[in-house]
Amino acid sequence: TFEQIRKIWLDHNIILFRGQDLSPEQQIAFSRHFGEIEMHTLSAYHMSGHPEIFINSNLLRDGKPVGAQKSGRAWHSDSQFLPLPSSATILHAREVPNEEGDTLYANMYAAFEALPEATKSRIAGLRGVYSRVKSWAINYPHREPLTEEQKAALPEATHPIVRTHPETGRKALYIGSVSELVRIVGLSEDEQSLAQELFEFATDCRFVYVHQWGVGDVIVWDNRCTMHKANPFDEERYIRLMHRTTICGDTPVP
Ligand code: SIN
Repeated sequence: TFEQIRKIWLDHNIILFRGQDLSPEQQIAFSRHFGEIEMHTLSAYHMSGHPEIFINSNLLRDGKPVGAQKSGRAWHSDSQFLPLPSSATILHAREVPNEEGDTLYANMYAAFEALPEATKSRIAGLRGVYSRVKSWAINYPHREPLTEEQKAALPEATHPIVRTHPETGRKALYIGSVSELVRIVGLSEDEQSLAQELFEFATDCRFVYVHQWGVGDVIVWDNRCTMHKANPFDEERYIRLMHRTTICGDTPVP
């Protein structure tokens, strides 16, 4: 059964299972089919007793957040700021708002394939430099600033802007939002606007699926060919509680 699931996932970038009620143990066991589980760098939001599960939520318990708040609000591919970015992410919705709080997924194969040939030639071989230190300050002003020690543990990472998927052999655009991308190597200051142009092209609605969450949904996405972004919701009114696991990836290759 897993071979079939994996094939569908590789063919379609994301796979959705509705109406699941996975215990942490079940989510961990399911996730392990996709590879080795990686521990999120923010250990404060590991699930107690199950550090493989990272909690994204606005829920407070005894006045304290149980999970990371306002996570992933800018378009990104998970841990693109690391030398070995995550391959798969598995997100299990435990509690969701009645409206908004959707997650958007952009198909980066489709974006690459739709680029004009001249742009494909222009970007072949280009590499982007990514920084968690930069994106933290821009995307998470509501969180504690990173300490000098945390910053030192997060050096910049450089990856090809066009990435060949290690399993399908297909080429995908591999570019996040400019809040995380520091620069494109070898381009002048004036030419750096290419990053924003590619990003806007890739997130055009023709490449994007918008998922409205139901309780029990499990989505597995492939970060090697998909970008995603979580939309905001009314946090005073609703709780959104998501259990997330991520899988160790490999070095992106052009
Ligand atoms: C993320 O993992 O980037 C957040 C996705 C979401 O909560 O919808």
